Parts: sequence; structure tokens; C-alpha cells
Amino acid sequence: MPLPSRVQIIDVGPRDGLQNEKQAVPAAVKIELVHRLQAAGLSEIEVTSFVSPKWVPQMADNAAVMAGLQRQRGVRYSVLTPNLQGFEAAVTTQPDEIVVFGAASEAFSRKNINCSIAESIERFAPVVQAALAAGIAVRGAMSCTVGCPYEGDVAPERVAYLAGLMRQIGVQRVDVADTIGVGTPLRVQRAIEATLQHFDIDHISGHFHDTYGQALANTLAALQMGVWNFQSSVAGLGGCPYAKGATGNVATEEVVYMLHGMDIATGIDLDQLVDAGVFISDFLGRPPQSNVARALLNQRAG
Ligand code: HMG
Ligand code: MG
Repeated sequence: MPLPSRVQIIDVGPRDGLQNEKQAVPAAVKIELVHRLQAAGLSEIEVTSFVSPKWVPQMADNAAVMAGLQRQRGVRYSVLTPNLQGFEAAVTTQPDEIVVFGAASEAFSRKNINCSIAESIERFAPVVQAALAAGIAVRGAMSCTVGCPYEGDVAPERVAYLAGLMRQIGVQRVDVADTIGVGTPLRVQRAIEATLQHFDIDHISGHFHDTYGQALANTLAALQMGVWNFQSSVAGLGGCPYAKGATGNVATEEVVYMLHGMDIATGIDLDQLVDAGVFISDFLGRPPQSNVARALLNQRAG
């Protein structure tokens, strides 16, 4: 199978990245980060989530962040909505896409969204319907598609089951997420194969956390199957508050460097992306969690 010639990246740093930060990040900083990402050429950005502020305090400013964006034509802004309450709040902020998020593992579903997989689908169904009726695109995130912090290994059959349910309720595309970054290439390929029972390759994206340093290898394994949509976080921000010990998504800088080095287009300017990563990392008081950013910054300083 030839590798894709172009890859579409969703930067999830403002959401998946910042949701896990203990220190308050002002809405103005989040807005500036989104602006810097779009200036760097990101055409899809996961901005925030409309979840309970008691569960995830960092995302409590969701509406303010959405309202403060100077939107750029051609950029898709997505937000997470776990239930109708979240959707109703989100829709007033005019997202281009909403994301319902389920898990392939029962235990993670309960810890993360306080309900079983079956119940989560019942909650998502009216959200998906309302979004589609309003002309808003719908993505489904599938957590723990290879491993779960509570249940250990997750079988591909569990992924196929969840993907089938997502399909049934009208989700248009899905993310195969390795929430805790334990996956290795062949296991990730099995999770993608399971998803292919219900979604075609153009509607599957890879969402890999880099906890064990496998995310780029997993990205390549997905590319080799024809996947051309990926999620990553500028400066490697993040982790999930309900997946203890899991580090951030693979850094967008890492993915872009690898893809450009393979002559795969992304539309992203790596230098500007590194600057966006420095901006948010400076705010957080640490260097970007990205080898590529570090190398390029050293070269600049050189
Ligand atoms: P619940 O407690 O079961 O909900 O939480 P409830 O319907 O019983 O409501 C209880 C309270 O929450 C009520 O408030 C509701 O108003 C409020 P109270 O009367 O107690 O004051 N509430 C809400 N408030 C704001 N927005 C809402 C909302 N819904 C209810 N949408 C719920 C269920 C899903 C809300 C909760 O469990 C929650 O917010 N969980 C947070 C989940 C989360 O954000 N996790 C991180 C994102 S997922 C992720 O990172 C993985 C991903 O990156 C992929 C991967 O890597 O795997 C996507
Ligand atoms: Mg994630």
C-alpha cells in the first residue's frame, strides 16, 4: 500500500493538552495558542470541551475561549460534548465539529464519563442527531483502543464493538486513541483493522499518546494502512485526567518533521509551529516536550 501523499493533522493541544494542567491557564492564553496554531497552518484545531467544570476545571472557560477566537477561513474548530447539556452549551459557540467520546473499555468509560459504554451511546445518540440537524460535523473519539489503565490489554473485538455503535448512531468519523500510550505498531494496526469493519480508512484517525515513546512508530504503522488523519499536541502537551501517568499526545512537531521528511505534505510551517509550542511552554514554565522542537531551537541558538 503506497503511503498517503498528504496528511491532515488536528492539533488537540488546547483541549487534550491543557485539560490536564493543574495551574490555571487564562482564556486569553488559550486563544493566543489557537491563533498561533492556525497561523502555523493547522487547519483543524480541537479547542476545548463542554464537560463538567467540577470534573475538568481547566475547561470551564470553554465558551469564553470559543468567543474570543478570530476564526480563519478554512480552519475547522472542534469541541468535545459528552451529553446534551454539553452540546447545548457548545452549539451557541458555533463549533464546526463536535466530538462525542467513548471508550473501548468499560472501566475507563465509567471513570471518564461516569457511565457504561452502552449508556454513553444512549447519551451520544441525541447529541449526534442534534449536531447533524444543525449542520455540525460529528467525530467520535474511541479511548483505550489498545490498553486501559484499569483493565490492561483491550481486545480488538472491543474496538469493533464500539466502532459499530458509533456508526449506528451516525458518527461520521472516529479516532482510534491510544489514551495511555501503551500501544505498539502491530497492536495499533489491529485496533485500526477492527475499526475498518465499520468505517472506511478516510474516516479513521490516529490519536496516539507518547507515554512509552511508541507514538511515531504507531503513526507510521497507521500510515502504512492508509490512515491520513492524525491528532497530536503542539509541544507534546497533555494527558487525560482520568488516565493517571499517561503523558501527552505525540508532539505535533514530531509528526510534522517525520511526515515532511517522508515527502508527505501537511500544510504546516514547522518553524511557526515550534514558536507556538515555545509560547505555551514558556507560559507553563517548561521546555516543549518535543525532540524536534529541542533540536530546532538548539540549531537556532547555535
Ligand atoms: P455526571 O456527574 O454523570 O453527570 O457526569 P450528570 O448528568 O449526573 O450531572 C451532574 C452534574 O454535572 C450536574 O451539575 C450537571 O449540571 C453537570 P450539579 O447539579 O451537580 O451542579 N453537568 C455538566 N456541566 C457542564 N457541562 C456538561 C455537563 N454534564 C453534566 N456537559 C460528565 C457526566 C460526562 C458530565 C462528567 O463525567 C464529565 O464531565 N467528565 C469529564 C470527562 C472529560 O472531560 N475527560 C477528558 C476528556 S476525554 C480524553 O481526554 C480522551 C481523548 O483525548 C481520547 C483519548 O486519548 O483516549 C478524547
Ligand atoms: Mg487523548
